[in-house]
Amino acid sequence: MKKDVEKEKQLAAKEAVKYIKNNTIIGLGTGSTVYYAIVEIAELVKNGLKIKAVPTSNATQKLADSLGIPIIDINTIDKIDTTIDGADEFNKDLMLIKGGGGALLREKIVASMTTEEIIIADSSKKVEKLGKFKLPIEVIPFASKYVQSKIKELNGNGKIRFAQNLPFVTDEGNYIIDVDFGFIENPVELSHKLNEIEGVVGHGLFINLTKTVIMGNDNEIITFKK
Ligand code: A5P
Repeated sequence: MKKDVEKEKQLAAKEAVKYIKNNTIIGLGTGSTVYYAIVEIAELVKNGLKIKAVPTSNATQKLADSLGIPIIDINTIDKIDTTIDGADEFNKDLMLIKGGGGALLREKIVASMTTEEIIIADSSKKVEKLGKFKLPIEVIPFASKYVQSKIKELNGNGKIRFAQNLPFVTDEGNYIIDVDFGFIENPVELSHKLNEIEGVVGHGLFINLTKTVIMGNDNEIITFKK
């Protein structure tokens, strides 16, 4: 029987929200899975939960605002207690590919500042090896051709992401190159190599940034811990 992906997302989101404590700063990820968590959090805020939230994208900020979740400027704080975010893929070592929604840069900064990063996902996101989902790489527009040639040297095949016939522009004013590397045998090494390319401002490989993935699987919740 076909799995109900939306139900799995909702289950994971509901479970993750239980990790949020009163009087804390929380990070709000981006995407269709986190949407359910944000709606739940708004409900808790209405019922008295005291939190301040750092959104990882303009879209999430708009949603959080519209639901009455208090926002705090990331540049006024030193750390974030708990973040709930989604992923495009995760493996058994809880390494991730993120950035399908184009918010990877802020997501990675928020994850880096977070004590407890919780990833929520439906069961389609769990993979043996990362790489079926094309790896999003955020580049400054000026460097996009140069970066594409460097990606070729790493055996990747990259295409600039388009939206409505124009290059997709991130919240930070950059382009995204979606790269097919085939299955990624060594995500750590690839991550380092990509970080070394001038013009790359971020990429969607998240290594050692989460210790908890909560996955909806049919009617159950599976929590992976590292
Ligand atoms: C946003 O840039 C991404 O990193 C998302 O977290 C990721 O694409 C997951 O999105 P969905 O929950 O919509 O699948």
